Amino acid sequence: MEQKLKKNDRVVVKIERLGANGEGVAIYKGVVIFVPFALVGDEVLIHIINDKNKFLIAKIIEIKKPSPKRIQPMCPYFSKCGGCDLQHISYADQLLFKKQLIIDTLKKYAGIETQVEDVVPSSKVFRYRNKFAFPVQDVNGEVKIGMFRKNSHQIIEIDDCMLQSERTKIIIKLFKEYMQENKISAYNETTKTGVVKHIVVREAEEDFIMTVVVTDEKFNKFSPLVEKLKTQFSSFGLFKNVNKLNNNVIFGNLDKKIYGIYELSKNEFGVQYFVNNRSFMQVNDEIKNIIYQKILNTLGSQKNVIDAYSGAGLLSSIIAKNGSRVYGVEIVKEATENANKLKVLNNLYNLTNKNGDCAKIIPELAKELEGDFAVVVDPPRKGLDEKVVEAFLKAEPKMIVYLSCGPSTLARDLKKLTEKYNISFVQPYDMFPQTANVETLVCLRLK
Ligand SMILES: C[S@@+](CC[C@H](N)C(=O)[O-])C[C@H]1O[C@@H](n2cnc3c(N)ncnc32)[C@H](O)[C@@H]1O
Repeated sequence: MEQKLKKNDRVVVKIERLGANGEGVAIYKGVVIFVPFALVGDEVLIHIINDKNKFLIAKIIEIKKPSPKRIQPMCPYFSKCGGCDLQHISYADQLLFKKQLIIDTLKKYAGIETQVEDVVPSSKVFRYRNKFAFPVQDVNGEVKIGMFRKNSHQIIEIDDCMLQSERTKIIIKLFKEYMQENKISAYNETTKTGVVKHIVVREAEEDFIMTVVVTDEKFNKFSPLVEKLKTQFSSFGLFKNVNKLNNNVIFGNLDKKIYGIYELSKNEFGVQYFVNNRSFMQVNDEIKNIIYQKILNTLGSQKNVIDAYSGAGLLSSIIAKNGSRVYGVEIVKEATENANKLKVLNNLYNLTNKNGDCAKIIPELAKELEGDFAVVVDPPRKGLDEKVVEAFLKAEPKMIVYLSCGPSTLARDLKKLTEKYNISFVQPYDMFPQTANVETLVCLRLK
């Protein structure tokens, strides 16, 4: 009898479909094998790297026969760095993959078969991100700036990222020079020594804010960096953040401004707002605005709107500016403080920002508004809390507009909500070209 494949085995397989993370899926003697960076139709020699009992994970050793759909990735780091999943697939095929993913996920997890619109594309398929966070590490005495390999802390050194603006490569180059010339140490995860851990940059057209995350609050040698950046850029801000902990969180609690502008100032939909490196803000400005416009059009002239999971409050402010009475609900204190700044700055007397857990606040608000309200929800990947779903089913808001970044949790929540609601549209958006992520906007109306 033939043995089941196991770790370190090698075999040639044909890829049959793509999985939810954009990876190739092969079936070999009845066992599912996930092969990142493989494409439907590829024949690949694979090496099994992980046996998860119900399925196997493998890496490509050699593409024996490429799929006719395979294209040459634009980035030399593709498949090494963990940032992109789909550069070997044409943009048109990436959009088809994402649409099919939503169709399949709704069917698989919720039994929902409904029309899913074509994915709204991003006009920039590269260089669309407005923020990057690159780890800086000491590897055997050498400073490396880059991205982590997928699911690991192994740093892949890069000198540019195709998802970021052209400015990124200049910043990386200058920052490396600054560290070398001034003998500044990078953090070593093994010995837990060294100073610089991360650089984080948030960009606008004209200017940017850079934060250098360090382990030592006394470290202050920033003037050579300011001078270097000034040779290339006329407007920027530089911050120090201190994170002494050896964990996966980028920022520590202490921020100090070193130089230049404090925040990026923007105006969208008539709302003036500010962002810094600590604010949650969608990374693709174009798609963010297309989604916000669709949300405004869908809501129309609602009297009361609850904006649940409201983040730094930009969307709540935009809806309030449009005339509705808005209640923003957000769990992170700093984000609610930011939302209150926007309220004051834009004279939005019809906006109330509540800080706390949606699971607690939504049922209270729903009771207060006696069903005369619409809801916008934009939860993290884990989706809606059960208590929030229950509150909606009990209070019966007229309309629920659900923006999701997690297709399977969206499906789980829709399964319950469709007991009382009809789906009026499912519209996916490509917020993150070259990656397997997709944002989906769903409008639900009370039956
Ligand atoms: C995807 S972001 C949405 C941000 C915002 N709607 C926007 O467009 O910028 C999700 C937000 O939900 C917040 N959040 C997560 N769990 C929450 C909870 N249980 N109650 C309230 N807010 C929560 C997070 O802090 C985060 O700001």
